[in-house]
Amino acid sequence: MIIQIFENADQVAKAGANLVAAQLLEDPQSVLGLPTGSTPIGVYDQLIRLYEDGVISFAETTTFNLDEYLGLSKDNDQSYYHFMLEHLFSQVNVQAENINIPDGTVDDPVAECERYEQAIAEAGGMDLQLLGLGRNGHIGFNEPDSFFQKATHVVELTENTINANARFFADPDQVPRQALSMGIGTIMDAAKIILVATGSSKAEAVKAMVEGNIDPLCQASILQLHPSVTILLDRDAAALLS
Ligand code: GLP
Repeated sequence: MIIQIFENADQVAKAGANLVAAQLLEDPQSVLGLPTGSTPIGVYDQLIRLYEDGVISFAETTTFNLDEYLGLSKDNDQSYYHFMLEHLFSQVNVQAENINIPDGTVDDPVAECERYEQAIAEAGGMDLQLLGLGRNGHIGFNEPDSFFQKATHVVELTENTINANARFFADPDQVPRQALSMGIGTIMDAAKIILVATGSSKAEAVKAMVEGNIDPLCQASILQLHPSVTILLDRDAAALLS
């Protein structure tokens, strides 16, 4: 694990964007794994700027998002599809046919998970997976559990995550209780992983991820076993690290 600690969230965003940009410059046909959440928004803003400045192009890039709420359609403004369109895809030259997000509206979510996992495999897996971090140590929507789930699967969200994400919804009761998420195996298959975490609400999860035992109660702790992980933190998120 490479751990970089910055003064503030803006620097974390710039560092994250620079690493993604380097990947695209090395291989414009890269397959990127992408997260939602408020933390990556700064990374996406910087990537848009680099695109507008003519430094990077997404024309040949394929993307796979980590997760999607079950039951929210693409045009629901709380869906992760909508989030990605708003914060990145509508502002860069990624091709619509190269964008992949689990479909939360299907009749058979288990079949959708299998289809998604297969699509990732057919694309050759992720060259670079960008991650945020849940307050309870989740990555994607892999919630604290007694085991690590391997492949894309249906998730029952924890109360902690439902509460954390309620801020994006007009009414907390509207937060879906289930989601589709890449598995820990899917994420760990990425050639490179970059995780961004900022703010004191992430400090405990960061400590467990970096210094704790590898334990499915902090799903991100498995990243200790990945050969190429870069963790980008601000001072507040890093505050509990010894
Ligand atoms: C959601 C997403 C995660 C994300 C997490 C943290 O639960 N499924 O991928 O990392 O939120 O979000 P934030 O960056 O807003 O704290």
